[in-house]
Amino acid sequence: MSHSAKIRKKPNLRVKIISMGNAETGKSCIIKRYCEKRFVNKYLATIGIDYGVTKVTLKERDIKVNIFDMAGHPLFYEVRNEFYKDTQGAILVYDVSDRSSFEALDRWMEELNSEIGNKSEVDSIVVCVCANKTDLRRQVDESEGQLWADARGFHFFETSALSGDGVNEMFQALFEGVVKTCENGGKREPIATQLGYTKEQIDAIQRLKNAKNDYERLGLGPGASKDDVNKSYRKLAVLLHPDKSVAPGSEEAFKLLVAARTALLKRC
Ligand code: GTP
Ligand code: MG
Repeated sequence: MSHSAKIRKKPNLRVKIISMGNAETGKSCIIKRYCEKRFVNKYLATIGIDYGVTKVTLKERDIKVNIFDMAGHPLFYEVRNEFYKDTQGAILVYDVSDRSSFEALDRWMEELNSEIGNKSEVDSIVVCVCANKTDLRRQVDESEGQLWADARGFHFFETSALSGDGVNEMFQALFEGVVKTCENGGKREPIATQLGYTKEQIDAIQRLKNAKNDYERLGLGPGASKDDVNKSYRKLAVLLHPDKSVAPGSEEAFKLLVAARTALLKRC
């Protein structure tokens, strides 16, 4: 027996990937960036569905990837709903410059759930959440997207189809996840990254960033005393100190916290 015959090559795989997310979030552009290495500036809405095939090699195994790129517009629901079945991987895209597209993510998961109609099948789908258009002015912080994805056991990537940032890494994780799931007999591997931070930390970071004044930043009403300011400062400092907190945005929030305390103490 020849040497090569002894090494049993793993069979090639065929996988099915879909795209989900509101219209104009950049689903088609992310796919185009990955498959054709280019970006189209003009918006050409997907009509119903676009189908494409690409090949990747992972762990010495050739994988044929069938990509079903869905139209995000509600008008096309009747067309795209046919294509959810047998999905193994999904990119779920929102646009960081459009908050409503982030808020729509739950509705997309509802659509996926109701079309597939079988919880264990849905749970076996590897999902990559793409926070796209990071080259634009944002309305959604990275930490919010990360938290949403972590809470559901999904991968999270910040991407820009325009610059290409994050796109290859995202597809790599998606394909690796799908192949592992196949090797696991259809059971999705839990994602290795542990949260490592709490919702309380995220909420505090959000408040520090979005508050209209220094009192609000410290969670105090106007006319709070020196004591109140220091108490509130200490509580938040323990929560957000960059040496202790791994929550995204801690460092920036901590600086805002220190500046707010300094300004308020001058006033008290
Ligand atoms: P539907 O097919 O209608 O569901 O939309 P889609 O999600 O496929 O969006 P598409 O990829 O067609 O992109 C929509 C618009 O956003 C286009 O004008 C793109 O040029 C633009 N776009 C996509 N990705 C990016 C990005 O990363 N940065 C910027 N600045 N623009 C982007
Ligand atoms: Mg499209």
